Amino acid sequence: MDIARTPASPDGNPEMADAAFEPKAPPEIQRSDYTPFAWLIPTIRMEFDLGLDKTRVVTRLDVERNPDADASPTIRLNGDSLELVSITCDGGDCAGHMMDGDDLVVTLEGERHTLEIVTELDPSDNSQLMGLYASNGMLCTQCEAEGFRRITFFPDRPDVLSTYTVRMSGPKAQFPVLLCNGNRTDAGEEGGTHWAEWQDPWPKPSYLFALVAGDLVARTDSFTTASGRKVELNVWVRDGDLDRTEHAMESLKRSMKWDEETFGREYDLDLFNIVAVSDFNMGAMENKGLNIFNTKYVLADPDTATDGDYDGIEGVIGHEYFHNWSGNRITCRDWFQLSLKEGFTVLRDQLFSQDMGSAPVKRIEDVRVLRGVQFPEDSGPLAHPIRPDSYREISNFYTATIYNKGAEVIRMMRTMAGEERFRRGTDLYFDRHDGEAATCEDFVKSIEDGTGMDLTQFRRWYSQAGTPKVRVDLEHTGNSATLKLSQTIPATPGQPNKKPMPIPLKVALFDRQSGENTGEELVVLDQDSAIFTFDGFLQKPVLSINRTFSAPVSIERDVSRDDLVFLAAQDDDPFARYEAMQELMTGYLVGAVTGDLDDAGCKTARGDIAQAMKSVIEDDRLEDLMRGELMSMPSQAYIAEQMLVVDPGRIHAEREALKADLGDRLASQFHALYDRVEGLPFSLDAHAKGARKVKTLVLSYAAASDPAKAAELAAYQYDHSDNMTDRQGALMVLAGLDSPERTDKLQDFYNRYAGNALVIDKWFALQASSLHPDAIDHVKALRGHPDFTLKNPNRVRSLYMAFAANPSAFHAADGEGYDMIADLVLELDPINAQTAARFIPSLGRWRRIEEGRAKLMRDALERVAAAPKLSRDTFEQVTRSLG
Ligand code: PHE
Ligand code: ZN
Repeated sequence: MDIARTPASPDGNPEMADAAFEPKAPPEIQRSDYTPFAWLIPTIRMEFDLGLDKTRVVTRLDVERNPDADASPTIRLNGDSLELVSITCDGGDCAGHMMDGDDLVVTLEGERHTLEIVTELDPSDNSQLMGLYASNGMLCTQCEAEGFRRITFFPDRPDVLSTYTVRMSGPKAQFPVLLCNGNRTDAGEEGGTHWAEWQDPWPKPSYLFALVAGDLVARTDSFTTASGRKVELNVWVRDGDLDRTEHAMESLKRSMKWDEETFGREYDLDLFNIVAVSDFNMGAMENKGLNIFNTKYVLADPDTATDGDYDGIEGVIGHEYFHNWSGNRITCRDWFQLSLKEGFTVLRDQLFSQDMGSAPVKRIEDVRVLRGVQFPEDSGPLAHPIRPDSYREISNFYTATIYNKGAEVIRMMRTMAGEERFRRGTDLYFDRHDGEAATCEDFVKSIEDGTGMDLTQFRRWYSQAGTPKVRVDLEHTGNSATLKLSQTIPATPGQPNKKPMPIPLKVALFDRQSGENTGEELVVLDQDSAIFTFDGFLQKPVLSINRTFSAPVSIERDVSRDDLVFLAAQDDDPFARYEAMQELMTGYLVGAVTGDLDDAGCKTARGDIAQAMKSVIEDDRLEDLMRGELMSMPSQAYIAEQMLVVDPGRIHAEREALKADLGDRLASQFHALYDRVEGLPFSLDAHAKGARKVKTLVLSYAAASDPAKAAELAAYQYDHSDNMTDRQGALMVLAGLDSPERTDKLQDFYNRYAGNALVIDKWFALQASSLHPDAIDHVKALRGHPDFTLKNPNRVRSLYMAFAANPSAFHAADGEGYDMIADLVLELDPINAQTAARFIPSLGRWRRIEEGRAKLMRDALERVAAAPKLSRDTFEQVTRSLG
């Protein structure tokens, strides 16, 4: 039966239907409203007749009543912007069906039926990049979280698991490669058309469905699992990109091995495909047996990818692969449980990367992301617990809180249990819930039962938002040291009062003379306040606390600069050394910005910092990779987090002044360091990576203290480098300087890499994130560059995310930066709502910014809010940010 595309409301009144179609305030979905779906869909068969402008989809669903759910006279099949061509029930007319908004509701009597639904799509017209879309002449899908409903009508929720059989057909010349989940069971061709049939033996929710059709080539390899299953591995890319896939393939094989060894998880199909696409909203997607990746997380060679890019690829390949167990074999009951798969999988990818490279450096990088992105989220209007209670648009909840804080929460359980006991917990979880759609509670219960820990109070970490503050005081009397700890959890939207949570803190006490500590201990603060006593100290020891960042909290303590200098030089926990350096610099910068430190105080503080930095530069036991961490300044965002009201201009100025001062005082040490490491041949080992890291750091200190000299040195590094890390580092420094070399090298870089989208992204980002005083004008000009487009999320992010994360440009005192982001959001929202909404949090920080700018930020938000038609994504973020 044919139905024209008129969204009819239940009572058939099209006026009302329109109102429901574009509601001003989309409904809020509550976690407490969960009910199981009334129907089971054990099997689904789909046939795709593929074309870039027109794809026809025939979907056959076998539906039967769910014995574990309340009976319903209807079945609701979600749709989103879909054209229903026809629907039949058990091969005949389907009388009882109607549209309810975008959904299709079918009246069904009896126990089981077969529904056949035909839809027609225009993938070329799909700029949202959700559902089936065209990218560079190929077709691919993105279904998480709610993209499947843009392909066909279906109960698009993660607790409905089905076995999929998919037949794909299309013009062979245009789509020589046809891929789907699972294993290919059959294929054939007739005339210019060919087809392939795929079967995925593992029941899965619709969000894990994927298909790809295009002109692709593969790097092929294999992996033999612990039990002897030989798995074919392919990394699919466009012709010409094949020689940039080696690192991705090696990372995949390492991930498979690591998951067997570390978590006892083996792969469960004979085939594992990865496809790289250049238009993608996120990093990558874990579709069963067919991971789809942003090209950024696949393609690398030394000439075009930085060390950071290499690490990012290894981490994301690991992440998506690990989802095969934490996400796919055990999925989420509903989207409120998102952290069940994401938090756990982030922890797994972090541990993997720790094992593949330098564990302390990886830990520092992860903490930097947490503090730079998640802490601000947790202290702003968008704060939410890792298991939220409500949402309007689930795409907005793919956040640093769900992902990174989620990982920290599970990491704390691991820290408290110890590695071995924790493994018993995860084994139990995988065993108990394999094949299910589970909840965060199921996970915690498994860890509890497997480890024997009581996690009753710990569960509060799942329900309470906000970064706990831990006040630390160390007192000394007689021969004992007394550690006084107290916690407060700030109020967050909807949660004015908090209860204390267990906070595991690794501590060590150092003897000032010998520099030795008495052994690391784990103390758990689970009350509002507690006291811990340590005996055997004739003198007050130096306290090292929250070692390895054992808890995602912020520590408040009065600590002398002497103690920090001590810890920066000799704490045996590398993270704690890093932390001491950061505290030393942050303490000074906050004091200088707020005026709490007078001129004399500033001067001594800078002297102490220089002394600590000097020992870091000259400590020959340190690896350069770690040295680079110790030499890095706290970011402007992190400094801002330490203050109640922020003046971004002052932070920038003081930070640059400190850089210049250190550059002056330590000029000869910096240059000696540069000379020592320069000329080391390119390799990806830690040694060479460390050398590249410290070289660019030296350049950035020089840029603040002696710009002309720095420009010369950076130009030299740029010209003589044989790899992207050195070249990009040099160009980053140059981009912030007003020098002839700046224009020259930027032009050279552009010419050299014209046509390589990922490198041109870097070219945009370098200019948008530069410290140049005219960065804002550069961004405006780049908006008009012929290579700029709003259609490609990587390109949009490379210009505008970089800009929004560049405080000195974004926070221009006249509000121009805010207006630029508001304009961008309004223009991008109809094209790609998900990407547009991701820019709102940068404006949502207004409450923490000084009055003048705060008003301008609000104005910008209000201008967005006033737009006549907003996506659900942007609507939700804007209203919450103003709220
Ligand atoms: N599930 C993906 C991941 O974390 C992220 C993702 C979400 C990708 C939504 C696309 C869309 O690995
Ligand atoms: Zn993930």
